[in-house]
Amino acid sequence: MKNFKKRADLQQYLAGLKAAGAVITFVPTMGALHLGHLSLIEQAKQLGDVVVCSIFVNPTQFNDPKDLEIYPRPIQDDIKKLEAVNCDVLFNPEVAEMYAGNEKWHLEIGGLEELLEGKFRPGHYQGVTQVVYKLFDIVKPDIALFGQKDYQQFLVINRMVDVLNLPVKLVMCPIAREMDGLAMSSRNIHLTADDRRHALILSRTLNKIKQSFDPEKIDQLKQHAEADIAAEPGVTPAYFEIADAETLLAANKNTKKVVALVAATVGKTRLIDNVIIKD
Ligand code: PAJ
Repeated sequence: MKNFKKRADLQQYLAGLKAAGAVITFVPTMGALHLGHLSLIEQAKQLGDVVVCSIFVNPTQFNDPKDLEIYPRPIQDDIKKLEAVNCDVLFNPEVAEMYAGNEKWHLEIGGLEELLEGKFRPGHYQGVTQVVYKLFDIVKPDIALFGQKDYQQFLVINRMVDVLNLPVKLVMCPIAREMDGLAMSSRNIHLTADDRRHALILSRTLNKIKQSFDPEKIDQLKQHAEADIAAEPGVTPAYFEIADAETLLAANKNTKKVVALVAATVGKTRLIDNVIIKD
């Protein structure tokens, strides 16, 4: 695997491949890679000729400095994992390589900014779009892959691609889960054994909603789900929403595409999860 820390070097390398007609697929990450990330790389390999993965813990998307500080950064392990799945190129820049300092950025992402994660993490999606725009600009991928795990993030990036008319095709990949249903996340390493057990309430509740979904009973289903999550020891719910899968506004009986999304703090760790109910 080629490993680049400087954007000019990466660009020069990719220019040669593009000139030869290679289809470039791109998987942006913040590292601490798990099977969820690796499933994106594997999917990327099916869709193109050269897979680029970036590992960059982007400071501008962290609204909580403590969260940024403790974010895991096991780069040597990550490199081994990427090599094991035959990733072609890694881009692993320092912060100074990505930001000139004191940059202003604002992208109009409409209601998505104020809803769910946007509401609980002010500025988060501005940071995400800022860095993903920069990464797209450097890599200029034909196809970029993102996980359904961060469902709202996918919608936000999709909106950016529309608003700025970026020449990239986005692909959403399914959520990779542990055997017991917990959605894989780089943050799971912070869970204690007790937290780990209590965290299962999230995927269990989402599953239950999917199984018993009835468009006439959305309010009732939501209330039960909220109560189940709030009753779990060590779990502090942030939100539970049954939403329109395109706008993330609360769903009603006529909503065609429906997704249920949850965020909660388990012990000291904030987790998110979701399930697509109607596609
Ligand atoms: P990160 O949290 O490292 O996630 C990188 C990609 O992996 C995202 O597209 C995310 O949705 C996907 N992913 C995470 N857990 C997954 C799982 N269990 N199953 C499937 N896919 C999963 O998301 C980010 O980084 C950043 O915000 C980024 C887009 C890189 C911008 O900094």
